[in-house]
Amino acid sequence: MTIANPLKLKKRDLFKQASFIENEFKIATSGKVIDVCNPFNGDFIGSIPSLSKSEIEHAVGCAVTAQKDWAKKTAFERAKILHTWADLIDTYKEDLAVIMTTEQGKPIKEARSEIDYANSYIRFFAEEGKRIYGDTLPADKDELRYMVLKQPVGVCACITPWNFPTAMFARKVAPALASGSVMLVKPASQTPFSALALGVLAVQAGLPKGVFQVVTGKADTVGHVFTKDERIAKFSFTGSTEVGKNLMAQCSDTVKKISMELGGNAPFIVFDDADLDKATDGLIASKYRNAGQTCVCANRVYLHKNIKDEFIKIYKEKVEKLVVGNGLDEKTDIGPLINQDAMDKALTLMKDAIDKGATLITGGQIHDSSKLCLTPTILDNVNENMDMASTEIFAPITAIYQFDDENDVIRRANDTIFGLACYFYTNDLARSWRLSEQLEYGIVGQNTGLISSAVAPFGGIKQSGFGREGSKYGIEDYLNVKYWAVNVG
Ligand code: SIN
Repeated sequence: MTIANPLKLKKRDLFKQASFIENEFKIATSGKVIDVCNPFNGDFIGSIPSLSKSEIEHAVGCAVTAQKDWAKKTAFERAKILHTWADLIDTYKEDLAVIMTTEQGKPIKEARSEIDYANSYIRFFAEEGKRIYGDTLPADKDELRYMVLKQPVGVCACITPWNFPTAMFARKVAPALASGSVMLVKPASQTPFSALALGVLAVQAGLPKGVFQVVTGKADTVGHVFTKDERIAKFSFTGSTEVGKNLMAQCSDTVKKISMELGGNAPFIVFDDADLDKATDGLIASKYRNAGQTCVCANRVYLHKNIKDEFIKIYKEKVEKLVVGNGLDEKTDIGPLINQDAMDKALTLMKDAIDKGATLITGGQIHDSSKLCLTPTILDNVNENMDMASTEIFAPITAIYQFDDENDVIRRANDTIFGLACYFYTNDLARSWRLSEQLEYGIVGQNTGLISSAVAPFGGIKQSGFGREGSKYGIEDYLNVKYWAVNVG
């Protein structure tokens, strides 16, 4: 179906209802499509092709061909194209933000900052590609010399999530491309148009065909090819731990290099020496960004008993000022959840907690504006017997627990299968060291609720996954280490 500029874009051709193969926008030969709707009002936005297995395999073949020439370019040539692409993304930022908010629901101001965040990865990795250093090693035999070469891993594939359709795309695609690999991307079927718009701008930036491709279709069909095809050397996934485990198992047949950015269950600990004004702001930033739909959202808030009442008073006042509604409205702070399943899960977790003794401080209602908007909610007296203690809430619900002993709160914070992000607020230096060393997480935020940055390593431990995205560590995931021994005797 053709829709005449439904999103009121300045650059109308950014909206593509197609897959992006070898720099061309293509539909499925079967004519099969997947419909995409706006989560705020359920309106149909457009549809994307549901590619068949052989069409996806064809895209893999194109990637194999493209990779050879792309790897031959210097890092400086690749960086130039990536910077041009980033400049175009800046130029069309407003259109890209409108596409993102329409398909994802997040407030337009958050969509704009996500475009900036995505571009920070493209620009950082464009430069980092120039700093892929090998090594020379002191040899243990007189006649030998040892070298280490770092080489592009080759053809990569990734599955990106619906919660950050542009940033998660950029932080996988940029390090791959900067280091001489190529990437096949399967965007989430709820939010494919953001990635496809980046394809339009990539062509304009001069990206050779096949270097990155956007493969649309059913998750199991695409996932099967991405994980089983032996021509694909590296697979990266951001999403739930449950799906990640299956994909990892599928990758084992062809022994791929894998990165997994999976679920979280972030503790947010506030000690009684903390600045409560800053801590409440930090919690709002961590908890309510993207309506609570981030892997690094504060999931369990531990407040020291001496400051709990005061904290809740300040926090409640701020939370009640948050504006819920259509993300396209400039005033909106909290948009819809992604779908009805997400809302049902949030309501079920909330009911379970209240049935078991939690106290509703504010919120807890479906907002008048949309059946998928939940008013920002605060629950007090939450404890570890409630389902939300061990489940990623992924909704705008703050769950408050009480503690009075440092060792006890560290033990409780670590008592989870997840290990992505954690946060604590204190100004005590010795305690800062104890916590940052003892908390079993890949990311620790102290006195801040926002930890994401292109220059820092994002990733988890335990069942939150492995591999790092962003920073000098992020590019290593796209490189093979080759050891070279030379006899000079
Ligand atoms: C995520 O939730 O998966 C990513 C959040 C971020 O990059 O800040």
